[in-house]
Amino acid sequence: MSDFVSQLVDKYPELKYALLDAQTFSQEHYGFPAIYYKMMETDAVRVEAFKETFKQYNNLQDAVVCEAGIGTLALTKHYLPFVKKAYLIENNPNIRSFIEEEIEKNGWTDKVELIFGDAMKVELPEKVDYIIGELMSIYCANEYQVQIFKHLRQFLKPEGKLIPEKIINTAALADAKFDGSHKHYPLMFTRHMPMFLTLHETVNVIDLYKEEALTINAETRFQPILSGPANCVYMSSLVQVKEGVNFTGTDSLMPPTVCKLTSPKVLKAGEGVLLKSSFGYGTSLDDAKFEIGDMAKWD
Ligand SMILES: C[S@@+](CC[C@H](N)C(=O)[O-])C[C@H]1O[C@@H](n2cnc3c(N)ncnc32)[C@H](O)[C@@H]1O
Repeated sequence: MSDFVSQLVDKYPELKYALLDAQTFSQEHYGFPAIYYKMMETDAVRVEAFKETFKQYNNLQDAVVCEAGIGTLALTKHYLPFVKKAYLIENNPNIRSFIEEEIEKNGWTDKVELIFGDAMKVELPEKVDYIIGELMSIYCANEYQVQIFKHLRQFLKPEGKLIPEKIINTAALADAKFDGSHKHYPLMFTRHMPMFLTLHETVNVIDLYKEEALTINAETRFQPILSGPANCVYMSSLVQVKEGVNFTGTDSLMPPTVCKLTSPKVLKAGEGVLLKSSFGYGTSLDDAKFEIGDMAKWD
């Protein structure tokens, strides 16, 4: 084990951007490379948050459900034995045969309607009790979680539930080293964390039952607790899968991410500043802008 740790330590510098490379969303490969599915499947923290939610909803017993972006069924297999009917949507052709075989092998064919296509365009023939979708990325900036739930929620029964239901995007102001042309990176190791100058504040809250906006322009006030240069925001997304069951980001899903400010700024402890954030859901973090505005006068 100590050999393995020693090798890992040697590799720390080159692993700084490894998560970014492994998880980058790309239309060309219809979402994700195979390694990303493995990361998601093996992440017990991520999967448990959904399993606990299903459990608290009585395992979705006899329910009619729709899940968007089923991937390799990492979440699906935990509720599928219990539901009455499931509309399962996926658009990655590389995992189609895997999904079909799993459904057949487990005897779920009769209750499953597999839809290979874009979840933002699918029309369901009936209203459902639950809409499930884990197509999340930090701030929902890369993936279409918001757009997909905005489209699909028209098929949710009035008393139906979304899983997940709320995402709280937070930021802290900090300072980090960026190599080459990198503008942002998700954290895999704590040694790549930036140096913090503030505590975390809420940038915006996404209520998936109601969210209409696809572009966010938010202003957030910070009170630095340390003085020094700031060149980045440390982004976290906190997910309420169901009230009381939360997921706050791991290396496989919504890892805390460090993103460059438009221009660096020297902060002074106790002197409030304003962060102006603008980004779009389902676009790219490359297009997001974070800027420290004029020093705000604190009340
Ligand atoms: C983050 S992965 C999660 C997979 C699975 N839900 C899980 O939790 O392990 C998101 C999945 O959604 C699929 N996906 C992304 N955009 C989609 C869209 N517009 N329509 C259908 N599927 C989509 C991707 O191909 C990928 O398999």
